[in-house]
Formats: sequence, C-alpha cells, structure tokens
Amino acid sequence: MQSDKASSVSSARGGKVLLCGATGTIGRAAYKALHQSGYKIVAPVRPGSDVSGLDGTVPCTFSQDELSALLKAHKCDAVMSCLTSRTGVPDDAWHVDHALNSRLLTAAVNAGVPRFVHLSAICVQKPRLAFQFAKLAFEAELQQASITWSIVRPTAFFKSLSGQFNRVRSGKPFLVFGNGQMTACKPISDADLARFLVRCLDAPECQNKILPVGGPGPAITPLNQGTMLFEALDHPPKFRHVPIAMLSVIASGLSVCGRLSESAREKAELARIGHYYASESMLLWDDRVKAYDAASTPEFGSDTLADHYRQLAASNVPDDRGAHAVF
Ligand SMILES: NC(=O)c1ccc[n+]([C@@H]2O[C@H](COP(=O)([O-])OP(=O)(O)OC[C@H]3O[C@@H](n4cnc5c(N)ncnc54)[C@H](OP(=O)(O)O)[C@@H]3O)[C@@H](O)[C@H]2O)c1
Repeated sequence: MQSDKASSVSSARGGKVLLCGATGTIGRAAYKALHQSGYKIVAPVRPGSDVSGLDGTVPCTFSQDELSALLKAHKCDAVMSCLTSRTGVPDDAWHVDHALNSRLLTAAVNAGVPRFVHLSAICVQKPRLAFQFAKLAFEAELQQASITWSIVRPTAFFKSLSGQFNRVRSGKPFLVFGNGQMTACKPISDADLARFLVRCLDAPECQNKILPVGGPGPAITPLNQGTMLFEALDHPPKFRHVPIAMLSVIASGLSVCGRLSESAREKAELARIGHYYASESMLLWDDRVKAYDAASTPEFGSDTLADHYRQLAASNVPDDRGAHAVF
C-alpha cells in the first residue's frame, strides 16, 4: 500500500528523524550524515548501549508503548531503522530484525509519521538463512503499511571484508574459499551508505522502492580483496585456498549436535551463514538467468575498499568488524 502522505516527505529535510540502531556501524554513520544534513535526531537505545559520540539518545526497552510514546512526544517526520540482530542466530534475528522493526512500524503508523527508511541487506534476494527470512517478513509488512517507505538493500560493508587484516599484517596468508573467485561484491563504505539512506528521506525516486545498492565498481572477488590487502600492507601476496566443502561439513556436523544442544544449533546456523557468504555473491540476482549481475548492481558513492585498506594499514588500528562480523 502506498501512503497518501507522500507529499509531506519533502518537508523531512531539516525535520526530525527517529533513528533506531544508532549505536551500530551503519547507525553511527547515519547519525553523522543526518546531523550534517541538518536533521534533528531522536535515537532510542537499549540500556547499556555504547552511546559515546551520540547526542539525542533516549533509553528505551523498545516496547510498543515506549516507541509509540517517543514518536508522539517528538512529532518525528521520519523513522530510519538500522536495527539488526548482533548475532544473526535465529531467535535473536526474529526478535530484532522482525519483531522490533514491526513494533517500530506500528508505532510510526499510529503516530502518523509519513516516512520510513529501512536498512536491510541484498542477501535477502536469495534467502536461505533464518535472519534473511526474518528481514523479508518485516520488509513485507513495511510494503503493506500506510506509510511511504524505502527498503535499502546494500551489498557488503567494508568491515565484513576486513576480517583478515590482522592475520595478513602478522605475515599469515590470506584465506580464500576454492579458487577465490567464486563470489564477488561491490563493497560500500559506511559513510556512502549513510548518505544514501539520508537521501532516501526526501528523494522522490526512492519512495516505495526496494533499493539494492553497492559502492563504486568494478565488482571484486576475494582474490582481488587479498591482492588489495597485500598491496596496502606492502607485503608479497600469499594465499591459502580452503575447500568450501569444509564449511558444509562443519554446518552438517553441528546440525546433528544441534538436535541435543541449543548452543550447537546456534553454531550450526553461524556455519551456514559463513557458507552462504563464501558461496554467494553480494550483487544483484537476475532470476531470469539465475545468475548474479555485476553490471546491473547499482553503484553509489566514491569510497573504495582499497583506500579503506590503505587507511587501516597507515593508522595501525585493528580492523573494525564489530560484533556483527561473520568472518
Ligand atoms: N555486514 C555487512 O556486510 C552487511 C551487508 C549488507 C547489509 N547489512 C545489514 O545492514 C544492517 C546494519 O548492520 P550493522 O553492521 O550496522 O549492524 P550492527 O553494527 O550490528 O548494529 C546493530 C544495531 O541494532 C541494535 N540492536 C541489536 N539488538 C537489539 C535489541 N535487542 N534491542 C535494541 N537494539 C538492538 C544495536 O544496539 P546495541 O549497540 O545496543 O547492540 C545496534 O545499534 C543489518 O540489517 C545488516 O544485516 C550488513
């Protein structure tokens, strides 16, 4: 359903945005981008979150009542959700990626908020994992709601492609599955993605659309990533090729144990997530030809992974994968 309130969206610039997930990687970048664009920000955060560098945070349990009260009290012009499960395990994914976003949507609709910008992920186009089904379930609700929506489905983040930085810096080889060319992606930086999210608030072409988005091309493979990393560190390239079947074996073994133990069940899901990212590209999927289409994957922004690796190498800081890292 499309909202009849779409005309009021352009007034969102300079208006007030309820930003959820402001303490996460993209949430923090979105906070900065909103601030730079002149928006006022209300950021509900759960107790104990790291709110350093963030003004306008409000402690919140994310109950339906609290979200509704916040939206009514602050008369927000838009909601932006960067909420996601920190672990990706099924129960937490359904709780956060689906249920919390769903509560937020109900609160936004009831409060008459005209605009909802939602951060999702490109991998939901080929769903096999619990967190992907949880995200899709919320995406479906959002598309049916009487609110003007944008669903942003980015490709890979820089943090997810920086996990081997420390091992390579310490002289170890870069690990690739198979020949290192089974997958590809157009990675997007936190800042570029944040600018894209902010643009969605008032760009008419972003309204009521699912928006896959990558960073500047061309698409790069894990082998390309390793080569960039060695160049940034000025180390001679050294790769180790790992059979992808290894991940399937681990996932299957843990699935069997998972019949007896919750912890093994969660580890099995994490192994399946690892297998998914080792075998599926983060590019637009063309269902007609059953293949990923690098050329058609939209590009936005100017930051490159090679520059990011050079900055990491120069700054001597550890990689910034955070708790959501898969690799
Ligand atoms: N990693 C990638 O390469 C990639 C690629 C494409 C798309 N994506 C998608 O992009 C989105 C954002 O990812 P991200 O890396 O920015 O996430 P992130 O750093 O893990 O941040 C998650 C945010 O959600 C909040 N949150 C988690 N559980 C919560 C709960 N139970 N109650 C309240 N708040 C909760 C966190 O708050 P706390 O600080 O309190 O934990 C944090 O603010 C996700 O949907 C992800 O799937 C990721």
